[in-house]
Amino acid sequence: MILVAAAGRSVISAMSTPEGEWMRADVKYTMVKSDKPSRPADIGIIRQYQPEDADPASNLARACLMLDPLMPPAVKEVLIRAESPAIMRERANLFYVAVCVVEGRIAGVAGVDMNEIRLLLVDPEHQHKGIGGLLLDHLESMVPSGLFRDIFVYSTPSAVGFYRIHGYQAGGEHTFHVGGCNIPTTFMTKRLAS
Ligand SMILES: CC(C)(COP(=O)(O)OP(=O)(O)OC[C@H]1O[C@@H](n2cnc3c(N)ncnc32)[C@H](O)[C@@H]1OP(=O)(O)O)[C@@H](O)C(=O)NCCC(=O)NCCS
Repeated sequence: MILVAAAGRSVISAMSTPEGEWMRADVKYTMVKSDKPSRPADIGIIRQYQPEDADPASNLARACLMLDPLMPPAVKEVLIRAESPAIMRERANLFYVAVCVVEGRIAGVAGVDMNEIRLLLVDPEHQHKGIGGLLLDHLESMVPSGLFRDIFVYSTPSAVGFYRIHGYQAGGEHTFHVGGCNIPTTFMTKRLAS
């Protein structure tokens, strides 16, 4: 059973017992069971990023970059060099970051800044199990619905297909210039359920 523990933007942590009970006296959780039949029944838990996640989340980001099939080697090199635990900590200070934990290890990391997806990475060893989709659902649920009706992302070329199957539409190409490299992205948006 997939449980997403959330308390608005104050998601803190979650623990599940083998029986699937949730513990933490000082935090209120909303528990959401994934009802999508295409998803495996028991992947892991999603919880808010915590400081000790910086190292594993950063290693995961590097692994994703290294194995990205569509990213030019020169761009990979710049982005991998820029990736670090410090950058991961900075992201978590700037916007909401969540992780998916599988068997005690971080298998995915994702972040949303108001209504912009800023981060979505699944450990290559755990891809195609539904984790990316669950993290995406979670990010969408964290967008303040009173302020925004849409969510958007500048998708890397290799993730465009993934966003499309989750209802995102391409709205044009955008190139970012980072560290002397051109990074091609596709601007993608989705209307959120009201
Ligand atoms: C994109 C990403 C987050 C998807 O995570 P995931 O856990 O593998 O996704 P899910 O298992 O929930 O969904 C997989 C489904 O999405 C679709 N999908 C996933 N990646 C895809 C891709 N590159 N192209 C087309 N469709 C894709 C497929 O339908 C796939 O189904 P399948 O597993 O039966 O083939 C993951 O591949 C990843 O971290 N990629 C590298 C980093 C990246 O590009 N992140 C996006 C930054 S904007």
